[in-house]
Amino acid sequence: MKVLITREIPQVGINLLKEHKEIEIDYRKGPPLSREELKRAVKDVDAIIPVIPDQISKEIIEHADNLKVIAAYSVGYDHIDLDAATRKNIYVGNTPGDLTEAVAEHSFALMMSLGRRVAEADRFCRAKRYEYWDPMAFIGPKFMNKTLGIIGFGRIGQFFARMAKNGLNMRILYTDVISHPEGENLLDAEKVSLDYLLTNSDVVSIHVNLTEETKHMIDHDQLKLMKPLSILINTSRGPIIDENALVTALKEGIIAGAALDVFENEPHIHPDLLKLKNVVLTPHIASATWEARIQMARMAVENVIDVLVDKKPPRYIVNKELIKDIVSSIV
Ligand code: DGY
Repeated sequence: MKVLITREIPQVGINLLKEHKEIEIDYRKGPPLSREELKRAVKDVDAIIPVIPDQISKEIIEHADNLKVIAAYSVGYDHIDLDAATRKNIYVGNTPGDLTEAVAEHSFALMMSLGRRVAEADRFCRAKRYEYWDPMAFIGPKFMNKTLGIIGFGRIGQFFARMAKNGLNMRILYTDVISHPEGENLLDAEKVSLDYLLTNSDVVSIHVNLTEETKHMIDHDQLKLMKPLSILINTSRGPIIDENALVTALKEGIIAGAALDVFENEPHIHPDLLKLKNVVLTPHIASATWEARIQMARMAVENVIDVLVDKKPPRYIVNKELIKDIVSSIV
């Protein structure tokens, strides 16, 4: 049995796989595979551990003759054609819950960095432009007692809200398709409409999955609702924001700034975002803590071992319709 791992991951995952002598590992540690390289590499594998930029399209899935499981090295699986996999009875697994703190902490870091102009001031110092102390330089807002609007109040959104509430006494507003009474109780959070959230928040942070419904959820009309001094943070998926509309809003002062870890056409970044001062940019690193990445490796490999060695569905299965018979026989 053969497993393709498309990029370097923490050794803990490799060690777990190596405990199973019957598994051959095709471990690619170099740069991302091109579409053609990926197509060739999947031809005879039983499992793939792909990373976020690997597009596991219908074409790739149909080309993989022996594929039994796609074990995403991520929580998000918008890079995998779920329908195509399900049609071929190929399990798709992910790594839920492993990066909650990491992504929430990065969202917090982006908020502070943008507001307190950390990245901009760092560039100023490195350019040897600090010649005298200027009482009016690099002034930004304080966040204590301000309002944080969370779009998507799942694990990550609630963890960010917890830090903002407990650390900075921020008022928490949220939107979500479902209510979260426990989060409301713990954090005094209020479930509101998207329009209300955008109109009333000083900081808006996005924590929803990318789906047909959430694509361009924040466009020109939504940005226009935001306060002129407010900031927008995105650590979820780039296409949730209409990037052209965001650039216009930033240039025209419709909002004060944006801090982005994800982009509409990654790894391409809109050239105007690169020029704007009221923007902080990071290269999709919100989950980049040792703890999160080690756990991602472990969980992705556990999904593979479940299917290939233990002949059962992956424990962190995404396409649950493949196990509905098992579930209904238990219930
Ligand atoms: C995920 O897991 O979905 C992150 O975006 C990448 O770590």
